[in-house]
Amino acid sequence: MHHDGANAFPMKHSQADICRSVLDGLQAAVLLVGPDRRVIFMNPAAEGLLETSRQRGCGRDVLDLVPMGMTLQGALISGEEGATTTLREEMLRGPLQAEAITVDCTVSPIDDGTEGPCMIVELSQVDQVARMTRETTLQENQGAFSQVARALAHEIKNPLGGIRGAAQLLDSELSDKDLREYTRIITHETDRLNGLVDRLTGGYSAGEHESFNLHAVLEHVRKLTQVENPGGLEFERDYDPSIPDIIGDHAQMTQAALNIVRNAVQAMEGQGCIRLRTRVRRQCTIHHRRHRLAIEASITDTGPGIEPDLKERIFFPMVTGRPDGTGLGLALTREIISRHGGLITCISEPGQTSFTLLLPVKEKA
Ligand SMILES: Nc1ncnc2c1ncn2[C@@H]1O[C@H](COP(=O)(O)OP(=O)(O)OP(=O)(O)O)[C@@H](O)[C@H]1O
Ligand SMILES: [Mg+2]
Repeated sequence: MHHDGANAFPMKHSQADICRSVLDGLQAAVLLVGPDRRVIFMNPAAEGLLETSRQRGCGRDVLDLVPMGMTLQGALISGEEGATTTLREEMLRGPLQAEAITVDCTVSPIDDGTEGPCMIVELSQVDQVARMTRETTLQENQGAFSQVARALAHEIKNPLGGIRGAAQLLDSELSDKDLREYTRIITHETDRLNGLVDRLTGGYSAGEHESFNLHAVLEHVRKLTQVENPGGLEFERDYDPSIPDIIGDHAQMTQAALNIVRNAVQAMEGQGCIRLRTRVRRQCTIHHRRHRLAIEASITDTGPGIEPDLKERIFFPMVTGRPDGTGLGLALTREIISRHGGLITCISEPGQTSFTLLLPVKEKA
């Protein structure tokens, strides 16, 4: 039997349903702007990017909602003359956005011959795309690394146990106190190596599967950090109360957040501000998988920033900028976030360092 393209869709879906699903599913933010330059429609990606809802965004002047200086205005004028314009790597900070972002923007006119041309404004966040792709590759490398680490840990821990046992036996046989100093060193160093291997591999427990709210985790970490650092340290909270619970290991997630916050405190030498921020994200792709709902949580500090030569490597084990650091904190954090199906990214400049977690919310079966 012959099918043409349109009939391949089940009949219950109208053309409009299909268009709506396509727009809802797009990664790019799409706005439809009327001849009076007011926003008529925005898709979920646009709501996410501009941090506003369709209700709040529609009806506003597009130049207010998407402030990109003169460039967007120029593109709209070209559009009115029938030309499509693409603007590359424009800085954008909407009235409701907490931080500026870099976007590519295409303005194309559609003229249905009625009251003058409407414009389609397409926005895609550049640094996000580049960063996400890079992070996913990094994470895949890390996955391979974890497997090697696990195998290596096994190979190291078994003989370590043997060495420690033998040192203890030897210790009990030695009557010379000076010689026992050596066996004590062997025992102490094997313990240290053992602990290091445990941290390196994060113990590799399977992890609990419980339902918990990320705010409980962040609040616990905040209180703990405040007790540890009385005075000089300030916390700012910008929580989205509507974030849903996630499923995973509460204790591991607490460890992950604590590692980030401790680094921030160390970088600021206990003096400065840490901002905890949460948001709901819709329709996002994490590790090549599409999720209807995710939680974005960022931890931002006002410290001096990550040293430039460390920036690309901070998530790798044994990378540290501190004389007394082991360089395992962030490697472990990334491992934990990854076990939860999530992603961690970092942007840093002097005065503002942000670690952002993107955690998928599993749909109830
Ligand atoms: N918020 C931050 N500001 C500035 N530098 C940071 C920040 N977070 C991490 N770093 C840098 O990244 C390095 C790696 O961090 P990581 O937590 O993995 O290891 P560590 O803190 O050195 O040691 P550990 O956490 O194992 O005790 C740090 O040593 C520091 O140089
Ligand atoms: Mg650390």
